[in-house]
Amino acid sequence: MSNDERTFVMAKPDAVQRGLVGTIISRLEERGLKLAGAKFMQIDEELANQHYAEHQDKPFFDELVAFITSGPVMAMVWEGADATRQVRQMMGATDPKEAQPGTIRGDFGLDLGQNIIHGSDHEDPGANEREIDLFFDEEELVDYERSDEPWVY
Ligand code: TYD
Ligand code: MG
Repeated sequence: MSNDERTFVMAKPDAVQRGLVGTIISRLEERGLKLAGAKFMQIDEELANQHYAEHQDKPFFDELVAFITSGPVMAMVWEGADATRQVRQMMGATDPKEAQPGTIRGDFGLDLGQNIIHGSDHEDPGANEREIDLFFDEEELVDYERSDEPWVY
């Protein structure tokens, strides 16, 4: 675990359509994670195939690619202590119907396919860096200090 671990996060097309991008950013900011990069973009089929390569043999793959390419997404890099696992905890279970209230999927989703947010898998070592490399050039990521003074405590 490092204090400046980076992880890849994406507000999926349903989050954009429903106006939840700001809410997702707020939750991660308020938690104390630091935004290192963001790109509002449309994913093409080639990028979708690469990003979800691990699922290419699954029955839901075609639907997944169709959904993720159906409209713009907000691709982001977030940084902080144990960031990958912390974001996954804040996201909640893959199926929003199983996700706990208080998690992003648990508060905003009901559909397994359209589940609002993507975060790199903390159980797949290197997934975070691989996904960041896929979506961002190094110069698109910003290195800066965000105060960690305990202002509100
Ligand atoms: P997965 O990597 O298992 O979940 P997570 O996003 O939590 O890492 O699956 C990728 C996406 O595929 C998932 O967010 C939603 C979709 N999906 C389905 O549509 N049906 C399914 O049965 C599963 C497991 C996932
Ligand atoms: Mg996954």
